[in-house]
Amino acid sequence: MLETPVRPAELVAAETRDGIRIIALTHPPVNALSFATSQALLKEIEAADGDASIAAIVITGSKGTFSGGADINDFLKPPPADSKNLRDAIAAVEKSNKTFVAAIDGNALGGGLELALACDFRIATPSSKVGLPEILLGLLPGGGGTQRLPRLLANKNPMNHGMAGLQMALDMMLKGEQKTAKQAKGMGILDEVVESGDVLARAVDLAKTKAGTKNRISALSFVAFPPMIAYAHGLVPPEDRGGYAAHKLIDAVAAASEMDFAWGLAHEARLFTELVQSQPAQAAIHLFFAERELGKIPGLSPDLKPKPVDKAAVVGAGTMGTGIAMVFANAGIPVKVIDVSPEQVERGKKNVADTYQAQVKKGRLSAERAQANVDAVTFVGDYAAIADVDLVIEAVFENMAIKKTVFEALDKALQPEAILASNTSTLDIDEMAAVTKRPGNVVGLHFFAPANIMQLLEVVRGKASSPQTLTSAMALAKKLRKKGVLSGNAFGFIGNRMLFDYAREANFLVEEGASPMQIDKAIKDFGFPMGPFAMSDLSGIDVFYKISQEAPKPPYRTSEISTRLYEMGRYGQKTGRGFFIYESGSREPKADPEVDVLIAEESRRLGITRREISDAEVIERCMYALVNQGAQLIGDGIALRPGDVDIVWVYGYGFPWYRGGPMWWADGVGTKKIYDAIVDYQERLGPQWQAAPLLKELAEKNGTFAPHPKIEVNN
Ligand code: 3HC
Repeated sequence: MLETPVRPAELVAAETRDGIRIIALTHPPVNALSFATSQALLKEIEAADGDASIAAIVITGSKGTFSGGADINDFLKPPPADSKNLRDAIAAVEKSNKTFVAAIDGNALGGGLELALACDFRIATPSSKVGLPEILLGLLPGGGGTQRLPRLLANKNPMNHGMAGLQMALDMMLKGEQKTAKQAKGMGILDEVVESGDVLARAVDLAKTKAGTKNRISALSFVAFPPMIAYAHGLVPPEDRGGYAAHKLIDAVAAASEMDFAWGLAHEARLFTELVQSQPAQAAIHLFFAERELGKIPGLSPDLKPKPVDKAAVVGAGTMGTGIAMVFANAGIPVKVIDVSPEQVERGKKNVADTYQAQVKKGRLSAERAQANVDAVTFVGDYAAIADVDLVIEAVFENMAIKKTVFEALDKALQPEAILASNTSTLDIDEMAAVTKRPGNVVGLHFFAPANIMQLLEVVRGKASSPQTLTSAMALAKKLRKKGVLSGNAFGFIGNRMLFDYAREANFLVEEGASPMQIDKAIKDFGFPMGPFAMSDLSGIDVFYKISQEAPKPPYRTSEISTRLYEMGRYGQKTGRGFFIYESGSREPKADPEVDVLIAEESRRLGITRREISDAEVIERCMYALVNQGAQLIGDGIALRPGDVDIVWVYGYGFPWYRGGPMWWADGVGTKKIYDAIVDYQERLGPQWQAAPLLKELAEKNGTFAPHPKIEVNN
């Protein structure tokens, strides 16, 4: 590849080899096609196009990346006046009479792939990946992707009058999936995978032989079968439930079929502009950048190298333990699960085998990969068998005394460099570290159930956790393909600490007159996949009860409803009864008159006259409880940034991504409005409402949690 730009300070480099003009994107770290880069690219394309001595043009990237797409930062501000953008550069490729070859090494994503699709030929190294992930940012491919990809794939996969190809294109864009070079070649996106040798040299050769040959996708005919478009609309969520961009994307694909190419492009551009300014896109872009901030930890030198984790162990073969073990297996790290109970081990083995088998059945995993993953998880009975691992995670019962015993044993058995981690969801990491001779190597790694599915991982920093341990833990999170959020060591860390306040408010609302069903419905309408009571039934009322026994007692009254249910043996789904009743084999919560009676008795006992409660009040009180505790945790330094809190709640608790997480949502509502409401609640409802100092501070200056001013969105 062109490693050194001809003009190092520029965003694009170019040179001529044997009459072929090579234009390379040189805008680190991912060759994002910002306004400035697109303008520089456009200039080079126009210059080469107008140069009669140039036979053909190769577009390539640099330093192992073709392009990560349009510059996402550009979507947060209005475009500079008169600026050229990626679409102009792509249009120049389209308009030129010369032959273009895209030489891809590394990622060609979003606008990067769209640029390549405008070329006549596309070749790539085997490690390259291509994709149109715009949907994950609440956008649609706006550089011609919705027009070119369906055309290309329908023509390359003509079965059923091109429907197979159209389906592939829709699927790839609606899931935002990245394809390996091999897959992309199979689909027809790439013309060639350059297995050995220099992809750029091969591209120059190809350009020489194909000079004068036009192979534009825009020239291909394309007709989409209308019922298939209608079917696609039916598969994605409704507009107001996270499907806003998906419907527009499908509309753009329909336009590719109904209009000629130029009109289709214009239609796509208009839909893209509408999306960029939408709340879901702004929320998703906030989450994109928040995720990239996670690894930036004040005080930790970026030069500190993480210790590799090549061998891991998990203590406890329960659901959580085996789930965590599968996370390691999925990342290609062999893992030993230690448990003394033969029954538990049998159940664990079955859980692992069944989980992978189910994935094979659903076509998500090849049989070979599934077997390799099953083989990566081994079960052992004593600590000596895990002495040489680099990291161990205990996932035993949530009880401090038991956890301390496990930590003592691990400290004695494991090699001195090993990291000892706890999967505790609430308990004090320092207390566990204190029973070891290596407190610096102790850290919390709090996975969320089901561990092999949920993307969140809280990394809990004990007071003695060393920078090396934290760096290694954060790097491990990435390797495990989790979103690792650093949390201070406070009861419940970030997520569960906020959950307690959210659940508290939901229970108080029930005492005041709402029903669990009403609350769950209001929360689901807000966008959560389930309400707090269904969630409690799913996780287990007994689990929450036991956690509450270990929790520090708050200086205000707590609701007794779930304690009553616990005493009645109503543990939730596992017993068929909890806040709701579940018919045998069903997970569908149904209201239970027995619970209504219990709730009415509680209201009476507390002297509360039950009243009509609006859904708006439910949302306000539950969400403001989250926001207030989030602000408290940020103010106390338990959470590093508002974006970290948002990531925790979106990826760990199902807060609707298109609302950006509780803190981003709060900015949209207004910190002053929320603060004023909390002051009023404190007077009317009691001392559980105590505005967090950070919220007060922001409210007084009408400030936002987000550090930058944001566009106005309608919450
Ligand atoms: N625009 C601006 N910055 C980007 C970017 C982009 N498209 N893609 C990545 N970056 C930045 C990140 O913010 C990060 O910056 P930082 O170092 O200051 O935090 C840096 O590049 C490195 O990113 P990662 O930490 O994510 O690096 P990885 O190597 O893990 O991943 C990647 C690289 C796969 C390219 C990943 O960053 C990614 O998925 N990027 C987004 C890709 C995308 O969504 N492209 C579509 C953009 S929208 C578009 O093209 C519209 C068009 O259709 C008109």
